[in-house]
This record gives sequence, structure tokens and C-alpha cells, in this order.
Amino acid sequence: MSKHHVRSSSQSLPTVPGTKIYYLVFLVIVTVLNISFFLGFGNYTYHVQCSTDTIVEVLSLYIAKNGEATLRNLMPQQCSATGDETESKLKNSITGLIDTCRITQRETEVDLRVKSKPTVTLITTFADHLHADGEKIIVHNNTLVNWAKFRPFVKLVLFSNDTFWIKIAKSHGWDVIPVADGNDGKKPPVLKEMMQSAMNLHKTQWYGYINADILLTSDLISNIVSLSKKYDVSKTRILFTGRRTNVNNFTTIDPTSDKSIRYHANRFGSLYTEDAEDFFITTKTFPWDKILPVVIGRPGYDNWLVGESRCKLNTTVIDVTETFLALHQTTLKGGNSEGHFHEGGDYNIKLLKKNDVVPNFLAGLTDCIYFKTYYTFCDIVEISQRHEFGPACACNKAKPKR
Ligand SMILES: *[C@@H]1O[C@H](CO)[C@@H](O)[C@H](O)[C@H]1NC(C)=O
Ligand SMILES: *[C@@H]1O[C@H](CO)[C@@H](O)[C@H](O)[C@H]1NC(C)=O
Ligand SMILES: *[C@@H]1O[C@H](CO)[C@@H](O)[C@H](O)[C@H]1NC(C)=O
Ligand SMILES: *[C@@H]1O[C@H](CO)[C@@H](O)[C@H](O)[C@H]1NC(C)=O
Repeated sequence: MSKHHVRSSSQSLPTVPGTKIYYLVFLVIVTVLNISFFLGFGNYTYHVQCSTDTIVEVLSLYIAKNGEATLRNLMPQQCSATGDETESKLKNSITGLIDTCRITQRETEVDLRVKSKPTVTLITTFADHLHADGEKIIVHNNTLVNWAKFRPFVKLVLFSNDTFWIKIAKSHGWDVIPVADGNDGKKPPVLKEMMQSAMNLHKTQWYGYINADILLTSDLISNIVSLSKKYDVSKTRILFTGRRTNVNNFTTIDPTSDKSIRYHANRFGSLYTEDAEDFFITTKTFPWDKILPVVIGRPGYDNWLVGESRCKLNTTVIDVTETFLALHQTTLKGGNSEGHFHEGGDYNIKLLKKNDVVPNFLAGLTDCIYFKTYYTFCDIVEISQRHEFGPACACNKAKPKR
């Protein structure tokens, strides 16, 4: 589990819990060491080393003391004296960070007003699952309720012909579009067709497809708001995706509560593999018209889409795994690799082949994505670049194996 899921919403700098007691214990240790040093026992083998751990602990303590203690006093003798200049450099970088956080905090308050404007249209479908299966009813109902929490920032579109779900979805403010008829009704919906229908229905800066078993948190808003500030989103093609967090114990989740979702992710969740991409959120200029009619719910389309965007479609692809919790409600029956076991499991593979596409699936893994996001100390989403890639990530590989 990545650490960000335990973030508190407060913007303050992290503090060391139980600082006071910790500080006392630390002082005692330091004092004993110093005394033994003066008494000439200094070079015993059990002498505490000036390790990186020691220095980091001293620094944490220094920050937690919030100006009350000096580095020179906290640093154990065996780490040698801290120069005044070093100490003032550290102090400057801390106050600089606090300033930065203050400014971004003010901007965040402005962003909150942006939150009330429809900014992203999210679509999904449960085409394969009529409401017969008890566990899936909880999953899909959770999803409908959960995403609706982010209105009016999000516009929601469910593709369904199922009157049971249509009623529930509409009662939570979703729009519903009938699923197009596939050949013999067994083919799942075509991703680009759903995207294009949603684009005709709503005008927003961003459009996204997310699998129907994924629960979202306010990370949805913070990621989109941050990326919207960094890029000219009306012109730049962006696609962001990431890894999901699998949770088996989802029946106890309150889908209306960020806190409950993050708690379950922390307590029961595990980050799933980098080839399972369950959400794709793009700017409105993303060229859906150039995407082959791959279907959702069957293997291959996710990695192909990401690889294609990275390698051929002049799109800024961003891996948001570290800043975007996508909680996957994993059911007993399936949920993991479910698409592989369906009838027509090779639909997408055949489609690509028929179109003479040699798909580069590996190039579409999240670990191959050049840009990735992280949360700053001020709890703001920022972008950094990966520098290490396996050879499999290259776009121009001849024939990658799956
Ligand atoms: C869907 O979830 C809501 C909120 O958690 C709950 O009130 C409602 O009874 C659920 N409906 C179904 C059909 O499970
Ligand atoms: C869904 O309903 C529409 C009409 O509302 C119909 O045209 C379409 O064939 C139906 N799709 C499926 C998969 O049954
Ligand atoms: C790629 O996209 C950028 C903007 O995102 C644009 O300025 C540039 O002209 C595009 N390049 C090509 C070859 O389409
Ligand atoms: C789910 O929660 C129950 C108790 O609420 C616990 O006994 C069980 O081990 C949990 N299962 C998983 C997979 O975490």
C-alpha cells in the first residue's frame, strides 16, 4: 500500500506522535552517551553509530520541536557538531516549505470554487451483470452512490438497459444511455462509442471511463484540479491512469464516506499489478476517433490503449497511482482477471490482429509511463518524471510477447 491513503486532510506539517516522551527518551540516550564519552568509555563497541537513521531521527525531532530546539543541541556527539550555517540552511528550507504550503493552501481555496463546476464526465457500464448476483448488487450500488458524491464536479453517464439499475442510477443524478446492440447481444460495449456518446451529451474539459467496481475518493478532484492548472487542458491531449487497490472486505464500506474508503484501502487493500488499468481519464481533445473499436471487460484493451496513447497519439500519459486511490471491490467469484474467463475473451486480441496491429502491451504498463504524480508535503498533487525504464517499455519494439 502506498502511504498516501492515510493522509489527513489537514495541511499542517507532519508531526511525530508522542513527541514529548520520545524527546525525553532521546535526550536520556544522548546524555548517557555523552557522559560515557567524557568518562572515556567512548570507544566501546556498543557505542551508537552516527548512522543515517540517527540523523534522520534528529531531524524529525528538530522539525517536531518547531523552532524550540537547536540542531546543535539535538545532534549526538558522535555525529560531530552541526555548523551554524548548516542549521540556518535547514531552517530556511523548512520556512520556505511552510510558505509554499501557505500559498498553495490559498490556491486550493480558489480551487474549491472550481469544484462546483462540471469538469469531468465519467462513464461506466455493468453490461455483463444483470442484477441477479447478490455480491455484484452491492458492488454496483456502491459505485452508483459513491461517484454521485462528486457531483456537480462530475457528470455521470451509465450505459445500461437494465430497468433495476436505470432507476437507482437516475435517483442519484446519473444520466442513462441504452447500450448499443452488439452482435447477438453478447459483445460488451465498445469503449470509443460510449465515450463519443457521452461527449455528445455533456460538454466538459475531461472525460473518463472507469470500471464499475471502482470506488473513488476526493483524489478524483485533487488530481483533475492540479492537472488542469499545470496544462492547458483545452489543447493538450492528456490521458491518466493508474493501478488499483484490491479490497475483499468491501461490504462494510460506506460508499458515501472518503474516510471509510481510505480506511478499507489501508486496512485490507493491496495494490494490484501494473498491467491492470481500470480507469482512463482524458482531456476532451483526446482522439477517440482514432481508437479502434475495442470493447471493455475483455483483456487487452487497457494496456493497448495506454501504449497506443504513449507511442502513437502524441498524448501526455500520466500514471497517478500514488495520488489516486481506485478501490477495487474484489468479489469472491471474480473481479480479478474476470474478463479472461468470459465468452469471447479474445475479442480485442482478434480485433487488433484483424486491423494488422501488433499491439505493444508492455509499453502500456503503468511502470512504463513517463510522468507520474506524487503528493507534496503540502498535500498537493505534483508531477515528476520516471528515469528508469525496462527495455520492454520502448515504443518501437518489434514484437513484444504478452
Ligand atoms: C444502495 O446504497 C445505498 C447507500 O449505501 C443504500 O441506502 C441502498 O439501500 C442501496 N440499495 C441497494 C439496492 O442495495
Ligand atoms: C438496449 O435498448 C435499446 C433501446 O432502448 C435497444 O436499441 C438496444 O438494442 C438494447 N441493447 C441491448 C444490448 O439489448
Ligand atoms: C502534439 O501535441 C502538442 C500539444 O499537446 C502540439 O503542440 C503538437 O503540435 C503536437 N504534435 C503533433 C506532431 O501532432
Ligand atoms: C474481513 O473482515 C473480517 C472481520 O470483519 C475478518 O475476519 C476477515 O479476515 C477480513 N477479510 C479480509 C480478506 O481482510
